[in-house]
Amino acid sequence: MGLGLSSCNLKPSAPLLKPNQELGFEPITASLRDEVVLPPGFNYRIVRSWQDSIGGELKFGFNNDFTCFFPLEKSNEALLWVNHESVDPKYIPDIEEQRRSVGGTVIKIKRNADAEWVYDYSDETRYNRRIDANSPVEFTGPVSFKEEVKGTLANCSGGRTPWGTVLTCEENYHEFDEKYKWRNFKRKHYGWVTEVNPYNPKFIPRKHSLLGRFAHENTAITISHSGRIVIYMGDDKENEHIYKFVSARCFTKPHSKIKLYEYNDIVDGFSNLLSEGQLYVARFYDAANGKTISPSLEPSEAGVGEWLPISREDKRIARRYRNDAEMLIHTRESAKLIDASPLDRPEDLEVSPHDGSIYVSLTKNLSRANTFGSIVRLFEDSSNHEALKFTYKNFVVGSIDSGFCCPDNLAFDGLGNLWVTTDATVELMLPHQRQLYGNNGLYVIALSGEQAGIPRRFASAPIGAELTGPCFSDDGRTLFLSVQHPSGSSVWPRSKEHKYPRPSVISIKLR
Ligand code: FEO
Ligand code: CA
Ligand code: CA
Repeated sequence: MGLGLSSCNLKPSAPLLKPNQELGFEPITASLRDEVVLPPGFNYRIVRSWQDSIGGELKFGFNNDFTCFFPLEKSNEALLWVNHESVDPKYIPDIEEQRRSVGGTVIKIKRNADAEWVYDYSDETRYNRRIDANSPVEFTGPVSFKEEVKGTLANCSGGRTPWGTVLTCEENYHEFDEKYKWRNFKRKHYGWVTEVNPYNPKFIPRKHSLLGRFAHENTAITISHSGRIVIYMGDDKENEHIYKFVSARCFTKPHSKIKLYEYNDIVDGFSNLLSEGQLYVARFYDAANGKTISPSLEPSEAGVGEWLPISREDKRIARRYRNDAEMLIHTRESAKLIDASPLDRPEDLEVSPHDGSIYVSLTKNLSRANTFGSIVRLFEDSSNHEALKFTYKNFVVGSIDSGFCCPDNLAFDGLGNLWVTTDATVELMLPHQRQLYGNNGLYVIALSGEQAGIPRRFASAPIGAELTGPCFSDDGRTLFLSVQHPSGSSVWPRSKEHKYPRPSVISIKLR
């Protein structure tokens, strides 16, 4: 029996957290300033910006999104993985440079004397590297191509595996031929979940085809009662779906105290867990008549749903696709053949560390006149992540009253708060709405206490930007955040050398 594999009879090892502590801060009001605005008493540090050197000729990529903290042996050192989602031909007209500006970055960071996490200039050679559109990659699962597949791109959000790797999600791959006019661009090579080992430059990134191909937003990774790896995923496009993958085999720690950086030499066996398993898609339905539905924006919305296997054992799929590889390349089409629910642009999904429920950001859907979005909670039957039935209810609905709309990335802070970034379509707002909502922001929603369920604004983005990729250091004391696509009249983060806006990753010491 290989590493990471065992009979599936484990009990969950980590106790669920109690959501009992609120973060003390004075919520900020809407801002239209070209600045990252934070509550009184909080400051940010820029970790890296687009074009910054990360050692030698290597440069930090464009439009950073997902960030992911990886501890090292010394508690004041760590690695930070950063996704680079897209390029802007206005700033990067050359396609070869565009190819080098997407994908992801690994950088070494350190905690300074003020306990702030900053870039580590003293150690740039051991870990720092770029994965881009030219990097070698491999496929796992049924899909393979005769021609060479190069690199990863459109990397939006992602997730950290229990064995110390990152799953980075290829989202809007269609833009690379449609918008950026890359020649000979093969769309089927992208739209996958790609695994990277930040601790080991020799690990060739793996595209796990069993996780399906679509505009992958993120991966919310958890372990079921029996020990299987379960990954919840959203397809960020209007009227697309949410999915979950359940591994065939179980995750077993080699020993209970193993740290993430100690998996490095034995990652392969664990990574193979993603090469065998079943992909499911969600169908929400009306319990009275069984008809497929999409959740509404009614605050009291609640109901039932089921997980449908994407499998050629279903005749509707088998008639269309002659093998599993074709089925997975056409995951969206397969999902529709079996009546999956169209949803209002599913962005992040996250599993609550408090009760195991799954929070789903439905950011907006202009085709259904939904401009405000919502967060829906799913409750698996018997709290079992392998369950085939679930119930759901709305958690928060965007509205003029709350000043909150268009939820995107989600992150739990371990104290009992859900952090939510927003991605509003500013161009569609009327002037008074623009004043009310301000620039895109980052909100904190307490899960218990007097403030429970109420979005409170913690940060406001510079002009034209979106705050993305919120991630906490493992001790929960620092928040990492991406400031993506500052644009229009923005010149953030303002420096003598640069008279144009630069996407950047920042760190904010919380306590
Ligand atoms: Fe890249 Fe769905 O945001
Ligand atoms: Ca997003
Ligand atoms: Ca978004």
